[in-house]
Amino acid sequence: MAKVVFENVYKSYPRSRAEDVSVASDIRIPKIEGNQNHPKQKSSNHSVSVLRNIDFTVEDGEFMVLVGPSGCGKSTLLRMLAGLEELTGGNIYVGDRLINSLPPKARDIAMVFQNYALYPHLNVYDNIAFGLRRTVNQSLKSNSIEDILTGLTRSLPKGLRYHSAKEKEIAKRVKYVASLLQIESLLTRLPKELSGGQKQRVALGRAIARNPQVFLMDEPLSNLDAKLRTSTRAQIVQLQRQLGTTTIYVTHDQIEAMTMGDRIAVMNEGKIQQIAPPLEIYHHPVNRFVAEFIGSPPMNFIPVTYVAPLTLIHPQFCLTLPETWIEPLQGYKEKQLLLGIRPEHFSLSTVSEQNLAVVVNLVEALGNETYLSVHLAEEKNTTLQVKIPGDKAIARGESLHLAIDLNKIHLFAENTGESLRFSSESSI
Ligand SMILES: Nc1ncnc2c1ncn2[C@@H]1O[C@H](COP(=O)(O)OP(=O)(O)OP(=O)(O)O)[C@@H](O)[C@H]1O
Ligand SMILES: [Mg+2]
Repeated sequence: MAKVVFENVYKSYPRSRAEDVSVASDIRIPKIEGNQNHPKQKSSNHSVSVLRNIDFTVEDGEFMVLVGPSGCGKSTLLRMLAGLEELTGGNIYVGDRLINSLPPKARDIAMVFQNYALYPHLNVYDNIAFGLRRTVNQSLKSNSIEDILTGLTRSLPKGLRYHSAKEKEIAKRVKYVASLLQIESLLTRLPKELSGGQKQRVALGRAIARNPQVFLMDEPLSNLDAKLRTSTRAQIVQLQRQLGTTTIYVTHDQIEAMTMGDRIAVMNEGKIQQIAPPLEIYHHPVNRFVAEFIGSPPMNFIPVTYVAPLTLIHPQFCLTLPETWIEPLQGYKEKQLLLGIRPEHFSLSTVSEQNLAVVVNLVEALGNETYLSVHLAEEKNTTLQVKIPGDKAIARGESLHLAIDLNKIHLFAENTGESLRFSSESSI
């Protein structure tokens, strides 16, 4: 096992091949240290930058979840770590090894993709054994005549097959992995005879069997139905804990992001926005992007003006903040800010200057809780998402008054979107 270090990593593609990227291209890329044989480092008008200044460490044995909108560079980052894409700048280390220019095979990294990429003509056993037949070679002294005999007799009936020492070692590993993933009964089936979830487990099995230093998983559950996703999700987390293999897991799914990782790395437009444990990301987002991206339904934002000493005013309401806000608000007198409120931090209340008068647009009663979409009574364009307990009967068109939990609010600078309270420096 090993830690993975991204050191000031950059990636650009030629502009013609990435026309749909809107990220600025004139970014100065720092010199690569310790790797003289590296591909071109310059970014020009002909190239477009898709990853910038990626600088973080995934600790040995850690489960890191990478989230961000489509096109932000998640897969590119994994592919560079796996050796399937060249770096434009920076360094990547696995353990103490600089791997920038190592071929994929030499990196000791296993990747599981969204489309399981199983070999259709090989059964489950051979799909899992395939990678091992190459890698076990290195750990076990291989006897070529034995290997040839094993290969030649592989399709014969069981009793007639020759098993080399290497093949016996492989069989042991395949059986171990199959039992971990509970696919022992599927070993003789072809991929076309498996369900989506079973294929997914075989793909995982193939990665696990290699016992790599690092697992990379790029949305491995996105083809599964909701129930299977939940069970496979739990299984992956349990397996990772059991094996202790450093893992980087890409997902779009909020629940996967919040529940699977030791830490979450939130990316946007090729840059890391924040890296922190899930609950820290949820409760202490460093900017508006993270606040909006993590949490479902997302955080609500309302423009307000700060009036010293501790008052936020909006044409429809006026809030008096707790004293803990004195320091973060210094320098923002009379300034416009964005007030951030999570849906669960509203509660049904009565008429008051502090409360928001709203009208209900939509009610989604899930039983255990109810989601409301509402708009400010006198500002139809300001819509808010609200989460309330499931036992309250609310009708569409109803007028309500919402109280805000003032201990849970967030404030963001209007121009930069940075949180007034939580700084990104401490979070990456
Ligand atoms: N081979 C390539 N040539 C040019 N541009 C590319 C290439 N591969 C990716 N890109 C661009 O790089 C950006 C990042 O792509 P990447 O696949 O890493 O995004 P992603 O975050 O994995 O998105 P998704 O969530 O949709 O999988 C995208 O804008 C994409 O168009
Ligand atoms: Mg991707």
